[in-house]
Amino acid sequence: MKKFLFVLTTISAIIIFFGFKYQDEPKKHGYIGVEACAMCHKTEKQGKQLDIWKNSPHAKAYQALMTEEADKIAKEKGFDTPAAKTEACLKCHASGYNVDASLLGKKFKVEDGVQCETCHGPGSDYKDMKIMKDREAAVKNGLIIYENYQELCVKCHNPESPTYKEINFEEAWEKIKHPVPKN
Ligand code: HEC
Ligand code: HEC
Ligand code: HEC
Ligand code: HEC
Repeated sequence: MKKFLFVLTTISAIIIFFGFKYQDEPKKHGYIGVEACAMCHKTEKQGKQLDIWKNSPHAKAYQALMTEEADKIAKEKGFDTPAAKTEACLKCHASGYNVDASLLGKKFKVEDGVQCETCHGPGSDYKDMKIMKDREAAVKNGLIIYENYQELCVKCHNPESPTYKEINFEEAWEKIKHPVPKN
């Protein structure tokens, strides 16, 4: 009888443990890459988000880690890996470097640096036209939109950046904003 009770409690404990664990972990969305977002977000009518991004410093944020200067900064910070292999640098310069390969679409490239999905969230579950056209559904499926863009900018543009330069966020936003034209 004692043994039976022991087995029973152990089984319940396992079920409860994994039950909670499962609840704690939100569904992981996959990254599809800039080119996949751009299928729809490159036309004049949509607002040419692709071109605006390509001409922005964010498209080159990974390349910025591929220089001798960057490796020097990483070394000075006490890392013994090249900057482009250092998570503490990648966290503000790229996306998708720290997720399971199964979550990366064929078109996704870590070399694209700070890309659409770095700011708007991984898009595998919101990219379909039907969901994209319904803001509420898109947000439910992982799209991140912002009330105030500055709350996003300060996540990376802050003194934790080894080369930190204070920027004027209004001017900075003018340089990278990419609205859908109102007609
Ligand atoms: C199949 C076409 C399609 C794809 C692929 C697509 N989108 Fe969209 N997206 C749309 C359409 C259509 C809208 C609605 C635009 C409007 O307001 O008229 C939209 C809206 C948005 C909005 C604005 C939401 C709002 O209500 O403010 C964001 C942000 C966005 N898309 C980001 C992305 C990102 C990031 C990707 C890639 C992960 C992506 N989209 C892929 C078609 C697409
Ligand atoms: C908190 C976010 C953040 C972290 C962490 C971070 N960076 Fe940056 N990095 C930025 C931002 C934002 C800029 C643009 C201007 C600035 O320095 O504020 C930048 C700019 C740079 C530049 C200059 C690029 C150019 O075009 O001149 C280099 C080089 C660089 N970072 C290397 C690194 C290295 C190496 C690490 C890791 C040791 C690192 N960064 C970690 C946010 C970050
Ligand atoms: C550095 C962060 C960042 C990157 C990179 C970025 N966005 Fe945005 N995006 C924003 C912010 C902030 C807004 C304004 C607030 C919002 O709607 O979320 C925005 C707004 C939008 C909107 C809505 C515009 C409107 O008029 O309502 C669309 C569509 C969009 N982004 C698509 C994209 C696509 C596609 C890419 C990649 C080609 C991209 N974004 C890259 C931060 C970013
Ligand atoms: C995920 C991290 C990240 C976020 C979020 C982010 N940035 Fe950046 N930003 C960077 C990095 C990294 C660079 C440096 C890229 C380089 O020099 O190659 C940069 C560079 C810039 C530059 C060029 C700065 C210069 O000195 O030339 C502007 C402008 C800019 N970002 C605007 C914005 C704005 C506006 C927002 C918020 C809407 C934003 N960024 C959000 C990482 C980020």
